[in-house]
Amino acid sequence: MSKSAEIYRKNLPYYYPIVGDLPPSLAVRFLAGAFRKEDRARRTVVDAGCGEGRDTLFLLREGFRVIALDASEHNLRILCQKSLEAKIAPGRLECHIADLVEKIPIGDSEVDALLDVWVLGPIILRYDGRAGARRYLREVYRVLKPGGLFLSEFETLMPKLSSKELKKYFANLTKGSFSIIASESIKTDYIDYLGLQSPYRVEENSAILAIALKDR
Ligand SMILES: C[S@@+](CC[C@H](N)C(=O)[O-])C[C@H]1O[C@@H](n2cnc3c(N)ncnc32)[C@H](O)[C@@H]1O
Repeated sequence: MSKSAEIYRKNLPYYYPIVGDLPPSLAVRFLAGAFRKEDRARRTVVDAGCGEGRDTLFLLREGFRVIALDASEHNLRILCQKSLEAKIAPGRLECHIADLVEKIPIGDSEVDALLDVWVLGPIILRYDGRAGARRYLREVYRVLKPGGLFLSEFETLMPKLSSKELKKYFANLTKGSFSIIASESIKTDYIDYLGLQSPYRVEENSAILAIALKDR
């Protein structure tokens, strides 16, 4: 088991009740906008490291089929309860306990898009290093259909880099396997939202949004 999964499967009760209340991420709103409304019922999106499912529920409301994956059974139970309350039709949501660094429990080239919000950057890189991150990214690549969309959003305390530098950084992490469409600094409000006491000044751009395609 990866170090990140080992840590996160134990639940972090002081943290998740807060994250659960956040609005949908910027990445998920971007992702939804990339697909036409009339096509969405035929599209499967993976929410990798879904947590309590703020983005999964948004995708379901927007008409997608979703596979929600997380190391924490506790988080998945909360998501299932919320999907019942939201009266999501059976068959539109699948939930699986998974260690994303070891294996994504999906066959090759099966999904239209994969969403990664606050997983790759703050967690997998932190606990499993570049080697672990690359194992995870190889799995992301494997499960996406050719032309499939990969979106990753994560906060960063990196010094402010230009778009070009961020693109290079992300291309290096994915070892050139994806076409990187964009890798941009974005403004997110979660550091304020969570009330974190950061030693760094939180400026306009506190996160990265990376958008990549699996080549056809
Ligand atoms: C910071 S939370 C983000 C949750 C959600 N994406 C959101 O934005 O609300 C990170 C999530 O990734 C999960 N996670 C961390 N490492 C993982 C791994 N190796 N495999 C599967 N899930 C993992 C954690 O259990 C947690 O739910």
